[in-house]
Amino acid sequence: MRLENRVSMITGGARGIGKEIAMLFAKEGSEIAICDVDEEALSAAKQEIEGSTGRKVLTGKVDVTSLKEAEAFVKKILDNLGKLDILVNNAGITRDNLLLRMTEEEWDAVLDVNLKGAFNCIKAVTRPMMKQRSGNIVNMASIIGIMGNAGQANYSASKGGLIALTKTVAKELASRNINANAIAPGFIQTDMTDKLTDEMKQNLLKFVPLGRMGKTDDVANLALFLAGNEASYITGQVVTVDGGMVM
Ligand code: NAI
Repeated sequence: MRLENRVSMITGGARGIGKEIAMLFAKEGSEIAICDVDEEALSAAKQEIEGSTGRKVLTGKVDVTSLKEAEAFVKKILDNLGKLDILVNNAGITRDNLLLRMTEEEWDAVLDVNLKGAFNCIKAVTRPMMKQRSGNIVNMASIIGIMGNAGQANYSASKGGLIALTKTVAKELASRNINANAIAPGFIQTDMTDKLTDEMKQNLLKFVPLGRMGKTDDVANLALFLAGNEASYITGQVVTVDGGMVM
């Protein structure tokens, strides 16, 4: 098992990519703590992961835009599980609109969850990880944060910001043996992309050399590699998992 005796916190872990990461990390021996704003989905995910791995899952209703809530959840993890080794900043939202129509609320909502949410959770785990003199942070960015996308000014800015944040965190915390990397997924089949029309999906697929959408486990496998011992000399990197969209 590749994450034996580790404790992992995964934000937005109630569904999609976050739930897949929690499931895989649990199978690889990690203790799991997932948080999300959606309580119902959170308890369904807890049941599903506990059912298939036999491992207890700690959950918390946390809105990552609140530093207080992020800190309270980290405290709950430390109180219950004794330490925290891995943070996966996965919670994210979209509020797509063309620049001219994009409202201030749509801009703020996406920046708050995708960028400030990651900052809040990183801030909350930094002290315990520094004390431990080890830690691993994986931030879920997006290829849109690298290449931009019409209709996603807020989302692309948040993910580009998250990539820059990852590099700074990697530089600031390297001396404490804390690694930070970003994953940039392409077009992955989840509730987030289910919102797209079939026509939009067909158009997007034209830009995917492998000609298909990715699955949540394609992303989870990369998260496992980055969070595990094999990647201990990798930090400050952005790794794409996108069927070849960005080369
Ligand atoms: P999803 O919409 O299926 O799941 C996201 C989860 O985050 C949900 O359970 C939601 O309740 C939770 N969440 C939303 N706001 C939150 C908040 N304020 N506090 C705590 N939890 C919150 O999305 P999916 O597709 O699984 O995406 C996960 C991450 O991967 C996101 O950061 C997304 O931007 C990123 N990503 C997804 C891609 C895709 O094609 N699906 C492509 C590139 C990146």
